[in-house]
Amino acid sequence: KVLTQGSVTYQSPSNIALVKYWGKHGEQLPQNPSISFTLSNCHTTTTLSYKKATSATGEIEFDVLLDGKSEPDFKPKIAKFFERIEKYIPFVKEYSYVIDTANSFPHSSGIASSASGMSALALCLMEIERQSNPDMTPAYFLQKASFLARLGSGSACRSLDGPLVVWGNHNEISNSSDIFGTSYNSNVHDNFKNYQDTILLVDKGEKQVSSTVGHGLMHGHAFAKARFSQAHDNLSELMRVFEAGDVDAFIKLVESEALTLHAMMMTSHPYFILMKPKTLEIINEIWDYRQQTGSKVCFTLDAGANVHVLYPENEKHSVQDFIATKLSKFCQNGHYINDFVGNGAKKL
Ligand code: PMV
Repeated sequence: KVLTQGSVTYQSPSNIALVKYWGKHGEQLPQNPSISFTLSNCHTTTTLSYKKATSATGEIEFDVLLDGKSEPDFKPKIAKFFERIEKYIPFVKEYSYVIDTANSFPHSSGIASSASGMSALALCLMEIERQSNPDMTPAYFLQKASFLARLGSGSACRSLDGPLVVWGNHNEISNSSDIFGTSYNSNVHDNFKNYQDTILLVDKGEKQVSSTVGHGLMHGHAFAKARFSQAHDNLSELMRVFEAGDVDAFIKLVESEALTLHAMMMTSHPYFILMKPKTLEIINEIWDYRQQTGSKVCFTLDAGANVHVLYPENEKHSVQDFIATKLSKFCQNGHYINDFVGNGAKKL
């Protein structure tokens, strides 16, 4: 039975990649596999209201609200998303929508809301599909929701599940796929349970380069081939690191991945430097602190200037103290967000 109108709400988190996805081909397919920690506190809550459209032939009609206010800037990306998913969920054209969305993190904080936002929207749409197919298995539901989320924003397909999600075919991970994210089910040592991530908001400005443009610059990039093959190797290595609980090896791999992502941007044409002086000051402070105290704290970066500070749960108090006293001064208005790994999206 297909309803004529209704509404559904999902909350979906952001994620932070350890092995980075940078470069895509075809219909949002990754050039290399990636793996991420799912976050908890940084999330988007989306209520999708739908009602039968008067004409089912034209463009999909929708409005987007951010914190209850109309947000036309979000429309092109969502229109593109609807266009891409139409052939996979034909009913999508039968409705008009209001997408009412709110982020737990401040708007324009430099934290990408595309992963949490697109995954929340994809889950809402799958909930509508479930009404006409109530027998679908939870596994099918999750897989298809991740598949759809990927079409909104690649990294969004890694936000539905947790605490670790792989996206992209990898020869040692049998359930890995280029078309959806899958929860990483191999052995993970207790050292990596409840890992902490404090996000330092260094620069809240608009990104100089959209991720779509950035991915595109990997086509014809001088180092592309080596980079894609390195990502496979790094994921293999990370699997061993997770199993052994080797936090020192984890640090080396994760920091190198972050710097490699930025190295790719610095060596593309056109080239970009997305780090800011304060990004580098923070990295140096982290390295000094690690040397002085033996701490296992490390950093990773997204395609921007903000720094994700990663550390084991047993260092929560000491590292958060270090952040408050030494690192917060590099953040815009002293602003940072304490987060930790989580288990993915939920229906509200
Ligand atoms: O999901 P997109 O297309 O915005 O790409 C994001 C890519 C990085 O965040 C830089 C890396 C990653 O794997 O999440």
